[in-house]
Formats: sequence, structure tokens, C-alpha cells
Amino acid sequence: MEPYVRIFDTTLRDGEQSPGASLTSAEKLEIARSLARLGVDVIEAGFPSASPDDLEGVKRIALEVGNPPANDPQAHVPVICGLARATRGDIDAAWSAVKYAARPRIHTFLATSPIHMQYKLRMDPEEVVERVKEMVTYASSLCGDVEFSPEDAGRSDPEFLYLVLGEAIKAGATTLNIPDTVGYTTPDEFGKLIAGIMSHTPGIENVTVSVHCHDDLGLATANTLAGINAGARQAEVTINGIGERAGNTSLEEVVMTLHTRRAVYGLETGIDTTQIARVSRMVSNYTGIPVQPNKAIVGANAFAHEAGIHQDGMLKNQGTYEIMLPETVGVSRSRLVLGKHSGRHALKARLEELGYALSPQDMDRAFERYKQLADKKKVLTDADLEALVEDQSFQAQEYYHLEGLQVACGTMGLPTATVKLRAPGGGELVHAAVGTGPVHATFQAIDAVVQVPSILLEFNVHAVTEGIDALGEVTVRLQTEDGLTLQRTSPQNEQARTRTFGGYGADTDIIVASAKAYLSALNKIIFAKGTPRPEEVSQVDKK
Ligand code: KIV
Ligand code: ZN
Repeated sequence: MEPYVRIFDTTLRDGEQSPGASLTSAEKLEIARSLARLGVDVIEAGFPSASPDDLEGVKRIALEVGNPPANDPQAHVPVICGLARATRGDIDAAWSAVKYAARPRIHTFLATSPIHMQYKLRMDPEEVVERVKEMVTYASSLCGDVEFSPEDAGRSDPEFLYLVLGEAIKAGATTLNIPDTVGYTTPDEFGKLIAGIMSHTPGIENVTVSVHCHDDLGLATANTLAGINAGARQAEVTINGIGERAGNTSLEEVVMTLHTRRAVYGLETGIDTTQIARVSRMVSNYTGIPVQPNKAIVGANAFAHEAGIHQDGMLKNQGTYEIMLPETVGVSRSRLVLGKHSGRHALKARLEELGYALSPQDMDRAFERYKQLADKKKVLTDADLEALVEDQSFQAQEYYHLEGLQVACGTMGLPTATVKLRAPGGGELVHAAVGTGPVHATFQAIDAVVQVPSILLEFNVHAVTEGIDALGEVTVRLQTEDGLTLQRTSPQNEQARTRTFGGYGADTDIIVASAKAYLSALNKIIFAKGTPRPEEVSQVDKK
């Protein structure tokens, strides 16, 4: 069996089914680009039949990330995959989106557990087998790379699974993915399930077996590794472990376990581990889902050693308390990366080392902002540079732009904020408001201009680095007051979801960072409601 585990990333599909995560197509494209640079083998880019927007989003990823650049036609590109229920309509939609990729894949699924067949599908087992045969055959007639998943395999009868999977192979499936859809199994059980499938499914030696676990009992990574030990050679994962309910198996945990414990597993992945921290940040900022500080590999405390005894041991030998070097996952120990007098070239080189490939215009803008920041902050770290670039990428998707903010607060009067926003077309809109505190007053003033009624679901603020002059990072999550729902449904439970909008801002002043974060989320609502993009607006009201 090959000593290589394919990494199938489903951040943009199952991850986006997380409560509260909804990404714009521009964000999805950015994440897909980063996943390609990270070295994932397969990107599940979405569920194309969900809505025309989703189909377009997957198609764009297929075109732009799933093909080598013109100047390097031999470059390796990931497989681009689209999810489809086992219906012709879904399969057609998936194909019409992924066919633009150099290496397209259709992933179709149908439930096989008694509870799903009886209550969700209202189909008997014979009908399920027939539908799998028919739909995998159909998908294979369109695309040479077809993945089939028996949904809720963790609670399915193993004998029935061997039969269904055998038929899927005969019908042309090239990957069989075994989902523990509700995160019910234990590592021992899941490992045995995969071992049983490996030894009892006719034709299994000709296909790749994949595992897809959910974390309802906190066992997703352990189950995935048990599946790999039993012979699976594809792991389905998401960045930061985001996903339905308690989430999916996290990419970073599986990859770093295989990497750190190579002697135990003897398996490789194609992941450039030094990109992990950067992609984790990007996904957290774009989805508005913070990473818990004690999260393995990517949590803020994962490499922090506070206790004196630990520090003493670390100084003598890093290996005393550290099983991985932070640099291995892209967390830099270096504090001073660039000084106030560093040039554009040095900034570009450092950003490239951190995995950011900016266009010349974005680089100009980043350099300008870098100089402004370097004037305020004496010590600039990689984390500062990352926050700066993330903040800039949020501002690139703006309808209204924050031109200025003035806040008065304290114990001797009402907190008051005055905001100046620039509207598309150049008009400036100024408004002042009072609030219970400076952030509230700022949001009230922004609301008065933007006039998009919303509910603030989450507000998080944290310092990028230590020190009094640290950059503050703010993430917010909003919902519209009229409960704008996603036009699309979840592929699995087919329920419409209330849409939420994440926003991000970074600044040395946390009220400014809050204003930017809030405005960036409101900008997303404006676009989601169908407002024309700035470049399409010719006339704007000027106050
Ligand atoms: O968890 C699950 O069963 C899924 C399938 C669609 C593969 O996400
Ligand atoms: Zn899933």
C-alpha cells in the first residue's frame, strides 16, 4: 500500500456548513488559492446545486485554482471537487462547475444507515443500492474521477456497506469515502469498520479508501488516524476543524501527527506544513470563527510556555516541552522582522516567505500601510505583517470605506463617535452618535450612515502581539435583522440557514479596528442583498 495519504480539504464545503460560517465568493477563491499553496491534494470547493452563486463560485475555483498558470503549464494543481446528492440534477450541476478544472472530481453521496434510509430518504435498502449504481454510473459517464460516500457509514450495517461499496466500484467510483457523519464511532470501532471494508469489499484494491469524520465526541482526529492505520489513504479534513455542529477532523492535527510521529505511521502527505498557521488565520478571519487559544497546533497557546519551570527546561533543550518546532507550522519565533527603514523589497521578500503573493498594486498599498504602522510601532513582527495583509484584503472588498473616526469617551460624559465614510463614487458621509461605550457609539454612527439593520452576534478583540503598542485585531459576526437566509440549503439536511456575515479589522487603535471589522461585515451584507459593486456605481448621494 502506498505510503502517502491524500489530503482532501473540505473547508469550503463541509467547513462552510459550520453554524455561522458563510464566505463570499472572493473569500472562497482566496482560501482555495491558499489551500493549493498549502499543498492539499483535493479541494472540495462547494455544493454547486445549492444555488447559481455556489455553482459560479466552484466554477471560478476550478478555472483559477484548478489549472496551471500560463507561464508554468507543468505546475501541479489540486483536484477540484464538487459535492452532489445522488440525483441527476445535482450531478449535472457539479459537473458543469468542476469540468473547467484540469483534474475535476464529482463527489456523490447517499445515506446507508437504517435511520437515514427510513426517515430521511424513505427508501428501502434495495432502492438505495439501485440509486447508487445508477448515479455513480451517470457521474462516471461525465467525469473520470468519481468519489462515492455512503452517508452515516459509522451507523450503517457493515455487510450492507460492503455490498453498496462493491456496486459503487463496479459503477466506476474511483474513491470510496467512509463518513462518520454524526461523530458517533470510537477509534477502535472506526478502525475496525475500515479494516472490514478493506477486506470484504469486492474490487477495493482498485480504489482509494477515504475517511471523513465529525467531532461530536471529540474523536474526529483519533478516528481518522485509526482509519488511516486500517488502510485509508485519503483523509477528509477542514482547516481549524470547522464544520457541521462540532466540526470535522482538523487538517493541522492529522498532518502534524503524521509528520511528528512519522516513525509510528510511516506515511507522508504533500502538505507544506510551514503554511498551516497562515491558512488557519485566514480561515478564522474570513469565517469570523475564532480559534480557541488551546487548540492543538494553531491555537495561540499551542507554542506558549509560560510556567517558569517549562521556560527553564526550554532554554536548556527545546525538546523538553516542545514536540514540534513552531517554525514547522509557520509560527515564527522571531520578534523583529523588519525595521522602520526597511524597504519595499524587504517587505515583499518577507511576505513571500510568509506565503503571501500580492499583486504589484496590493504590494504598493501594503508598503504604504507598513510605513504608517512602522511609525507607530517600534517592533514589527510576522504577526503584525499578517494582520496588516488580512486587514487590507478585507478592505479590498468594500462598498463603504472608513475614512475617519473620532471618539470621545470616559467617565465624564456620554461616549460619542463621529465617523466619516466614503461611498462608492467618492461621496463622503459624516455622522455622529452617542452610545453606552466607544464601540457602541461607533457602531451607532456607522449604522446611521449605512442603514442596514443588523444584529451583532459576536464581537472578539485580541492583541496580535504582546506590548502596549500591539496591533488590535477585531472580528465580528452579524446577522441581518430580517434574518436573510442563504438561498441554498445544506446538502445533508436540506434546511435553509440563516446567513451570518463575518468582519475583520486590525489597527493599533482597537476602536478603529472595531469600526473596520463592523463596516466590513456590513459591506458583505450590502453585496449579499444585491447592491451593485462600487465599480458599477456611477452616482451616489453626497451629503
Ligand atoms: O458527513 C458527511 O457524511 C458528509 C458527506 C456528504 C460526505 O459530509
Ligand atoms: Zn461531513
